[in-house]
Amino acid sequence: LLNIKVAIDGPAGAGKSTVAKKLAEKLNFTYIDTGAMYRALTYKTIIEDIDINNKDKIVELASKIDIKLENDRVLLDGIDISNEIRTPIVSEKVSLISKIPEVREIMVNLQRQLANNGSVIMDGRDIATVVMPNAQFKFFLTASAEVRAMRRYNELVEKKISVSYDDILRDIKKRDKIDMERDIAPLKKSDDSIVIDTSDMTIEEVVCKMYDIIVSK
Ligand code: C5P
Repeated sequence: LLNIKVAIDGPAGAGKSTVAKKLAEKLNFTYIDTGAMYRALTYKTIIEDIDINNKDKIVELASKIDIKLENDRVLLDGIDISNEIRTPIVSEKVSLISKIPEVREIMVNLQRQLANNGSVIMDGRDIATVVMPNAQFKFFLTASAEVRAMRRYNELVEKKISVSYDDILRDIKKRDKIDMERDIAPLKKSDDSIVIDTSDMTIEEVVCKMYDIIVSK
């Protein structure tokens, strides 16, 4: 399988990144987590104490940002911030940052450069619609908001980040709303995507289903 592009979109907590990572391993493709890029920028605005309304400054930061995605790690200016970007402070703000059109333009450019390198699996919100409209495989993963919140909750508890289920459910619903209602590149299923509802599926089942679709083509 040479130069294959796989796009995975869907709402927060649908299992995209877990599934994408495993699928990438199985296929020996490069995994690109675009949410991590928006999270890294959001994290940077927090540590630099930049107001969410200071759009110019946020766009300036985005234009100079140094993000590296290495397997499981996310590096910002060379520093591993993989855990920091999953904290609720970042999750709460990321949709407001990623809604800024100039920020998206910068990120989409970076993502397209990354995608230009062999076979890749990229996950996010606008991958099939904007970043890789020519991807050979497009998947849209969904699950009920409650299932998605429970997964996120378990994930964070496992990482020893203290959270409440109700707060996560609220955050997920709020983020979905902002992501779906924004003007530029909203979260939306593209017409040619394969929809997989993962509510009653295990990770392995989802991975197998996608794997079979890709290798049987
Ligand atoms: O995938 P994840 O939940 O880590 O993404 C965090 C946030 O980044 C999303 O809620 C969304 O606001 C933004 N995002 C985006 N476009 C992408 C990936 C993520 O707007 N391609």
